[in-house]
Amino acid sequence: MVPEVVEFRTGEQLAVWQDFRLSTMPDIISSMHLCHAVFALVESGMLGNLRDGRRLPEDGLLAGTVERIGTDFLRYLVMREVLELRDTGYFLTRKGELLTSDVSLARLGVYLEAYGSVTSRMSDLLTGKATYGDDVRRDGGPLGKHSATLFSIFHTPVLVEAMRGRGVRRLLDIGCGGGSLLVNACLRDPELTGIGLDVDADAIEEAKRLAEREGIADRLEFVVGDAFAPQEWPEVCLDADGLCIVSALHELFRDGEQAVIDMLNAYAAVLPEQKILLVGEPELRYDARDNDDDFFLIHVLTDQGLPRDRAAWLEVFGKTDLECRRIYRRPDAGPRVCFYDLAPRRR
Ligand SMILES: C[S@@+](CC[C@H](N)C(=O)[O-])C[C@H]1O[C@@H](n2cnc3c(N)ncnc32)[C@H](O)[C@@H]1O
Repeated sequence: MVPEVVEFRTGEQLAVWQDFRLSTMPDIISSMHLCHAVFALVESGMLGNLRDGRRLPEDGLLAGTVERIGTDFLRYLVMREVLELRDTGYFLTRKGELLTSDVSLARLGVYLEAYGSVTSRMSDLLTGKATYGDDVRRDGGPLGKHSATLFSIFHTPVLVEAMRGRGVRRLLDIGCGGGSLLVNACLRDPELTGIGLDVDADAIEEAKRLAEREGIADRLEFVVGDAFAPQEWPEVCLDADGLCIVSALHELFRDGEQAVIDMLNAYAAVLPEQKILLVGEPELRYDARDNDDDFFLIHVLTDQGLPRDRAAWLEVFGKTDLECRRIYRRPDAGPRVCFYDLAPRRR
C-alpha cells in the first residue's frame, strides 16, 4: 500500500521559514562548516593524498581517516563543490583549488587554528567569565606558520626593497613570530644575518625549524624574549645594525600611547648605530572588505591595542625622537601593512 502523504502549507510557518532563509543564516552555518571541512581536508592528509594522485579510496585517498566517515566526507565535499567525482576518481574543482591555495589556507589557519581558541570563547570573554591571557590564548605556533606564508608572498619583498642600499648586515626582528621575514630576507641576500626575538616559545621553535628547513640556520638565531623590555634582551640582540618590528608594536597600545612613544625611543637608543628602524603595522579600515571586520574582532577579543591607521601612527611618531622618512605599502593585495621607515629626527 502506498502511504498517504499529508503536507502542511500554512502561511504563518512558511513566512517564518522564509524569514530564516532571508536572514542568510543558512549560508552562515554552511560557511562555518565549510571552514572546518577545508581545514580537516588538509589536516587529515586527504588533500595531500589527492595532490599525490591518489584519487580513489582503493588508491589510498582515505589513508589516515576513518574510512566510513571519510567516504561520506567525500560526498559532502562534492555537495559543496570542493571536489568532483569523475570516471577516474575525485578531483578538486576550480573552487576547491582556490580554497586550498597557499593564501586561502594561511588566512583560514590564522582565524581557525591560531584564533579559534579565542573566538570559540567569545561570550566568556565578553562577559568576563574568561580573561584573555589567563584563561584563553591564541596559538602562537600556527599564527607564526600562517603569517609566514602570507608574509613571504606579500611583505618580505617590500622589506627587502626598504633595506636596499642601507648596508644592514645583521637585522634584529622583534616579535618575529615564525621567523619568515628573516628567513626570506636572508635567502634573498646572502650577506645578511639576523636575530629573531619573540615572547612565544612555540613561534620561536617554528622559526628555528623554518631556518633549518631552508638551510640557513647558521646565519640566524632565534631567542625567546620580551619585545617591550629591551633592557632585558639577550646580549646577541645588541650585535644588530638594523631593527624591525612588524605587526607587534600596536599590542603595546594596551598600556597607552605614551608606552608606545617611550618604546620607540628605547628602540632607537638600544642600537645607536642602527642603519634602519622599520615599523610594520597593519592598517585597519573598519569595514568588511578582505575580513577587515574579522581582523578587528580578534583584536577586540584579545584586548590587544587596536591597530591604527597611517595618520594616527604619524601622530605617534611625531611625539618621539624619531621621524618617519618614508612609508612603504602594498595597497591592493595581501594583509594591509604599512612599513614606516624611521630615523633620528634631524634638528
Ligand atoms: C601578528 S604576529 C606578527 C608576527 C610577525 N612579525 C609577522 O609579521 O608575521 C605578532 C607577534 O608579536 C609577538 N609578540 C607580541 N607581544 C610580544 C612581546 N611583548 N614580546 C615579544 N613578542 C611579542 C607575538 O608572539 C607574535 O608572534
